[in-house]
Amino acid sequence: MNAPAILAENINTHYGRSHILRGVSFRVAPGETVSLLGRNGMGKTTLLRTLAGLVRPSSGSVRLNGNDVTGERASARSRAGLAIVPEGRGIFPNLTVAENLTFASRANRKGERPWPLDRVYTLFPRLAERRHHWGNELSGGEQQMLSIGRALMTSPSIILLDEATEGLAPKLRDEIWSTVKQITQSGIAAIIVDKNLNDLLALADRNTIMAKGEIVFDGPSAALRADEALIHRHLGV
Ligand SMILES: Nc1ncnc2c1ncn2[C@@H]1O[C@H](COP(=O)(O)OP(=O)(O)OP(=O)(O)O)[C@@H](O)[C@H]1O
Ligand SMILES: [Mg+2]
Repeated sequence: MNAPAILAENINTHYGRSHILRGVSFRVAPGETVSLLGRNGMGKTTLLRTLAGLVRPSSGSVRLNGNDVTGERASARSRAGLAIVPEGRGIFPNLTVAENLTFASRANRKGERPWPLDRVYTLFPRLAERRHHWGNELSGGEQQMLSIGRALMTSPSIILLDEATEGLAPKLRDEIWSTVKQITQSGIAAIIVDKNLNDLLALADRNTIMAKGEIVFDGPSAALRADEALIHRHLGV
């Protein structure tokens, strides 16, 4: 049996005196796609940031592919195979598309680079067309493609996507989902936060819902789809 891509146990995270994550345990199997749902302010971003090492939890442990990274910073977790595509995308405005991508390039622990530049350009032909444009010349959809492409250049085994299609028109949203599908089908595990419940239900192997810093549901799409009361209570639709 392979170790989980991510195994987080009993995570508590505070911002100052505010207790945000309350004993969260979270597991993602290698290659598994897991949605992370919940209303505004429930702690989804805080969980992703805690898993990525951008926020330090007050207690709990995080393992990546069997390696304990609890005490490790974000850079070490990135080397251990975790990539985060943050809300707001965080691309460099004064670098070109090509530079944004190549700056991120890194081999995985086996010394392989499964996502070299040309494979990222094949996945996102739009980025190939725009390779010499500056980061600040890109549309919202292109920025998101670049942010995902950059994550892939780090040769991750798990990718965390926060508000994956926020602000994108439906056509672009579908484009992002189809590339996310290709990425997960290549064997990369994913945790995906997004507002479009139906899109996530179609994409995810398993769904989780967070409410007030706790995981209140964990199950397959069919089980969630069937529970209208739960959807209404926690997702407001
Ligand atoms: N840097 C911070 N300092 C203090 N409190 C914060 C900070 N970031 C978030 N919070 C608070 O932590 C709680 C969880 O926020 P978080 O951003 O994790 O929620 P979320 O589920 O991602 O919400 P959204 O759907 O709006 O993105 C909220 O009450 C928020 O106000
Ligand atoms: Mg958020």
